[in-house]
Amino acid sequence: MAIRFDETSKIFTLETKNTCYQMKADTHGFLQHLYYGQKIGHMDMSYIHMTVDRACAGNPDTVFPDRTISFNTLPQDYTGYGVGDYRINSIAVLNADGSRGTDLRYVKYEILDGKYSIPGLPASYETEEKLKNGNVVSTEDKGPSPVPAKGSSPVRTLVLTMEDPVTKLVVELLYGVFEETDMITRAARITNAGDGKMQLLKAASMSLDMPYGDWDLIHFHGKHALEKQTERNHLTHSIQTIGSNRGTSSHQQNPFVILCDEKATEDSGSCYGFMLVYSGGFKAEIERDQFDSVRVVMGIQDDSFTWTLYPGETFYTPEVMMSYTYEGLTQLSHNYHKMIRHHICRGKYKLTRRPILLNNWEATYFDFDNEKLLQLADEAADLGIEMLVLDDGWFGERNSDNAGLGDWFVNENKIKGGLAKLVKQIKAKGLKFGIWIEPEMVNEDSELYKAHPDWAMAMPGRKPIRARNQLVLDIARKDVRDYIYNSIAKILRENDIDYVKWDMNRSLSDLYSKAPEIRHQGETAHRYVLGLYDMMERFTSEFPDILFEGCSGGGARFDAGILYYSPQIWCSDDTDPINRLNIHYGTSFGYPTSTVGAHVSASPNHQTGRSTPLHTRAVVAMSGTFGYELDPSKLTAEEKDEIREQVRVFRANYDLISNGKYYRLSEIKKKSYEAWEFVSEDQEEAMVNLVVTDPQPNPTLMNVKLKGLDPQGIYQLAYKTKQYPEAPFVYFGSEEMGRRFEADDQEFTGSALMYGGFTFPWVIGDYAAIQIHFVKVG
Ligand code: GLA
Repeated sequence: MAIRFDETSKIFTLETKNTCYQMKADTHGFLQHLYYGQKIGHMDMSYIHMTVDRACAGNPDTVFPDRTISFNTLPQDYTGYGVGDYRINSIAVLNADGSRGTDLRYVKYEILDGKYSIPGLPASYETEEKLKNGNVVSTEDKGPSPVPAKGSSPVRTLVLTMEDPVTKLVVELLYGVFEETDMITRAARITNAGDGKMQLLKAASMSLDMPYGDWDLIHFHGKHALEKQTERNHLTHSIQTIGSNRGTSSHQQNPFVILCDEKATEDSGSCYGFMLVYSGGFKAEIERDQFDSVRVVMGIQDDSFTWTLYPGETFYTPEVMMSYTYEGLTQLSHNYHKMIRHHICRGKYKLTRRPILLNNWEATYFDFDNEKLLQLADEAADLGIEMLVLDDGWFGERNSDNAGLGDWFVNENKIKGGLAKLVKQIKAKGLKFGIWIEPEMVNEDSELYKAHPDWAMAMPGRKPIRARNQLVLDIARKDVRDYIYNSIAKILRENDIDYVKWDMNRSLSDLYSKAPEIRHQGETAHRYVLGLYDMMERFTSEFPDILFEGCSGGGARFDAGILYYSPQIWCSDDTDPINRLNIHYGTSFGYPTSTVGAHVSASPNHQTGRSTPLHTRAVVAMSGTFGYELDPSKLTAEEKDEIREQVRVFRANYDLISNGKYYRLSEIKKKSYEAWEFVSEDQEEAMVNLVVTDPQPNPTLMNVKLKGLDPQGIYQLAYKTKQYPEAPFVYFGSEEMGRRFEADDQEFTGSALMYGGFTFPWVIGDYAAIQIHFVKVG
């Protein structure tokens, strides 16, 4: 039973395979948070909390004359506002009478089979089938439980209704319990059941109190072309905010944070993850208070947020996916990887191999025509690459990034004879075909802007901020969305397109929408995101066979919200493999390899000027969706042979890389190399990747301890086994390296490889990479 309610104690217990989450609706109607952590059996965890008279702390009227109960110390699951809890609040409401107070009390509960959904927003789901059949718990249904729990479903929903008895603001807390993946999801449905207008100034998705412990905060910061840099700091007595006010989840911070025990490592220690399923501005606030209690609050960015609720109206927050493990950071990552692959990503390409592609962006930038594209297609086909992607510049007068955005019709000066002809010619070469779009934007120098200047967001009387010389379309408006949809869908309907890269190349500013449903401009940023999701849902529904890849100047919208619509996201505009090690490392904490858009590009690299071996570039890009972004006609015959081999290796290892468990084997920038590993679920195979980042003379030898193997199993390097007599799974950087390993037909126990490690040979040269594959032979 994933959700239990004890009528006598009024305790709610949510259980996953390994974790337990407990709350109590106490006699005063407060929803106390009792516990979130490792499973504890049938225990009432109230005993770990002690109420103490804290001198001047405020006491709610209903507890009088007891001076020991105070909102300011009480662990709660979702807090009120302005009524004596001075820590970070979950909600902020401007009431009809001008007061700013919300005092939520428990009213009732429902336990439902299946997973709740959130209208208009992406959210985790149980199975795609149930999602499609509408067989999910609809949060739109305001009536009694549509599907009473029967004990059959692996995913369950708990709805806890809280109400402010004075204002009649109703907050329904939604909990989704995914037993298998050790995930508890949270969201809130907020309704004005009163008779006056209310304004939400803040509406967090969740709040979690952790009264005891010494915690580190891990978060992922960055910038354009260097996203998701990992930072770990001890929590001080302060409020730390990780967030974005850019209207996108952003390059600068990712909507995923981890709190881990200060002693936690990859392999041990308590770790909590909080991931927002949302692609707009967000805020994660973490407070360590006067008594060392920690509160985490996460949700939509509220700095300029105001949402008007007239009587009877409802607001839905996005969802947060929370996970806990006491087995360290690797296990936490595995929980998120599984959750995203199985319960966030959708569609045809959710779990299957996606075509290895050649993208023309770094090969040509804006300077191409149909002949050049056909030449790239020939080269791609010759190398075993499976799809050509035509990036920016194929439409309107788009010869640079100053013009053309919004004009979704083919530029026949470049693509002579039209797109349909080009697509046919490319398909005739045995390739699939993909295309780039940036639907949310417009250049002033475009037909669209000339016809509809009022479709770009701008504040009255002000010239809007340009970024990359483009303006933001008001996609909060349905008429604007319809236009964009129809013009792009026409292209997709008329051409046999297999893949779409959906880009978005600036942060939002000048937020002012003319959408008729907007009552306050504080709604605009969120309505923009709702508009985005509406378009994405329409595209993915009408074109279920198209593989969508998200992109936002690289990884400015690398989040679980986008992954609901596209199973992969271009991870960074930085294709330098050494920088990518860093970016992929940070990304791996929350997101699986199958979501990480990664390509082999030219050397010297276009962003950094650094030269790296082709082999190294491929080893790094293989820990992602894998593809190329260079002009193959500029390569030597040897390099082309190497690419053929890379394509073969990726195809052969796809299952291990994508469906296997990912292990970080080195802590970033702590050694002269970085190493990571994939292990199949059945522990039959493992692939270790290592890149030397700082070649040393007379070096310390690189002994790497593998992880996740069967300790009793006997492993051998793949090419020495009967299963793989022709060494199809081994890929070495050079002949030289191959010979070194060939001399070695040793058998290793899994425990030897894990506890003694594997010692890699001394390699010299710039940024050498080694990729080895172990298989179990006994
Ligand atoms: C963004 C993307 C790149 C490329 C360019 C095209 O920067 O991240 O991959 O598509 O736009 O303008």
